[in-house]
Amino acid sequence: MIQHQSPNKLRIAVLVSGSGTNLQVLLDRSAAGDLAAEIVAVVSDRPEAYGRVRAERAGVPTHVVDYRAYLQREVEKPLELKLPVNLEELARRQKILKSSDPEKLLQRLAKLVLAEDELIGILDSYRPDYVCLAGFMRLLSPYFLGHYNRGGQWRVVNIHPALLPAFPGAHGYEDTFCYGCKWGGITIHFADEGEDTGPIVAQAVYPIWPDDDMEKVRQRGLSLEYEMYAQCINWLAAGQVELCSSPNLRVDTRITDPDYQIIMRSWIDKALA
Ligand code: GRF
Repeated sequence: MIQHQSPNKLRIAVLVSGSGTNLQVLLDRSAAGDLAAEIVAVVSDRPEAYGRVRAERAGVPTHVVDYRAYLQREVEKPLELKLPVNLEELARRQKILKSSDPEKLLQRLAKLVLAEDELIGILDSYRPDYVCLAGFMRLLSPYFLGHYNRGGQWRVVNIHPALLPAFPGAHGYEDTFCYGCKWGGITIHFADEGEDTGPIVAQAVYPIWPDDDMEKVRQRGLSLEYEMYAQCINWLAAGQVELCSSPNLRVDTRITDPDYQIIMRSWIDKALA
């Protein structure tokens, strides 16, 4: 089959675990010609993720890496497994898994690496410019991240439903709402080895009104997510996400789009409407 590729379009692979409404927006915008990216593959960690159905409907190849099966495997001697990476070094570098038992930690990491090795094999066969996480609920180890974040490039993008560094983790909307915040936020960032700690690409906020319930807050936030993810991908495609180092030596980014402020205002106006 001949693959037609438009010049200047990014090749992105999207990872999902669940319903995939962000993925749907990206698929729709791509089909409408409003996304400077071709979604070359969608990979899920769960066979039942609805995001797969959305991708299949749009004619995008889908794959499953069954993390559950990998993580339930018995691994007696992790250091004797043939792995593409030094497990002890990985254990020193990783920042998220905690265990008082070093052997258990190695076992968990070994299983994770096996799953990630399959994932990398699939993703690389599509030669993606970026791997976009859209509700992918799995920890990514330094093995996976190091494979894509190389040569000063950051190639794994995540959308997080809170104004980082507040409320990292899996429950951004719930944590924001239960804390009594009067504004919620969305963050698009590159993924690094910490928990939602990578360089921030864009952030925006939405109001939380006194009579809101959790569901209203989530819906308002999601509407903002849909605008932001597509825009950030377009900025990446246009080379308008510049990397720079901030005074505290963190890697930082700067959007060079001359319309940046207009776009930022439009997101917030829409959220306030
Ligand atoms: C979104 O809230 C996203 O910010 C978070 O996971 C959720 C995914 O939702 N990382 P959906 O699957 O795109 O509907």
